[in-house]
Amino acid sequence: MDKTMSTCGNYDDDPFLAEYYDLIPDYAERRDRDFYIDWSGAAGGKTLELGCGTGRILIPTARAGCEILGLDLSKNMLSRCREKLLKEPQDVQERASLTIGNMVDFDLHETFSLITMPFRPFQHLVSTADQFACLSCVQRHLAPDGKFILELFQTYPRRIFDPVYLNEVEDTPEFELPDGRRLSRTNRTTAFHRAEQFNDVELIYHVTHPDGRTERLVQAFPFRYFFRYEVEHLLARCGFEIETIFGDFDKSPLAGDSPEMIFVARGAIE
Ligand SMILES: C[S@@+](CC[C@H](N)C(=O)[O-])C[C@H]1O[C@@H](n2cnc3c(N)ncnc32)[C@H](O)[C@@H]1O
Repeated sequence: MDKTMSTCGNYDDDPFLAEYYDLIPDYAERRDRDFYIDWSGAAGGKTLELGCGTGRILIPTARAGCEILGLDLSKNMLSRCREKLLKEPQDVQERASLTIGNMVDFDLHETFSLITMPFRPFQHLVSTADQFACLSCVQRHLAPDGKFILELFQTYPRRIFDPVYLNEVEDTPEFELPDGRRLSRTNRTTAFHRAEQFNDVELIYHVTHPDGRTERLVQAFPFRYFFRYEVEHLLARCGFEIETIFGDFDKSPLAGDSPEMIFVARGAIE
């Protein structure tokens, strides 16, 4: 598998991905924003967000008074973020900065009080070599006493083998975009790779233009799934000490039916 394929989620395949990202109701309504803003506020120093995308978390964090740097590999996602930032008041713009880069190989020449990866960018890293490289970069960029928050979904066992997930199903019913086009979205798994712990996934955008023309736009990418103790071992191997594992953004502890696995860790264990 090509390395870039395995590490980016193909957000630059078509400009529509960055254009529609903020309009997907499930993304806009995600209940993670206050969780990340609170951690940035408590950090007492600058936050680094890896895979910051269009600034869904980064911009409200800067609005809340925190300094934050966003790193992303996608030019389109970053330029959408930049456009949005330009509409913010001057002080918000001054607290937020952006850089293009790959989270498996970056050197920013500064350290951070908090490093985050909201909405699962780490799951784009299919190989353990990439995961290890990313966590090593995180480790090098953490200030003393800095914290790292790693967010992943809790793997639902049927999703890793049940052929029912090969069927295309709607996840976003049709709604109208501000310019009059109509958008709906379906998704499907196209292949299971159980030995390598990833699925090939497609997010399929159906656009109907005001003149009746329709488009079917596909974002296809491999998505890695993780298990709790695997992540505990991986973090330990990279020198992190886990402080807490949450199962959701309400800070409930990880349980069998939790939707998320959110690891809060300290770095640089001697
Ligand atoms: C689901 S979006 C999350 C965006 C944002 N954090 C949020 O919460 O809305 C995943 C982001 O990770 C970025 N990404 C994927 N692989 C990456 C890599 N290797 N290095 C940097 N960014 C990456 C993608 O370009 C995309 O913007």
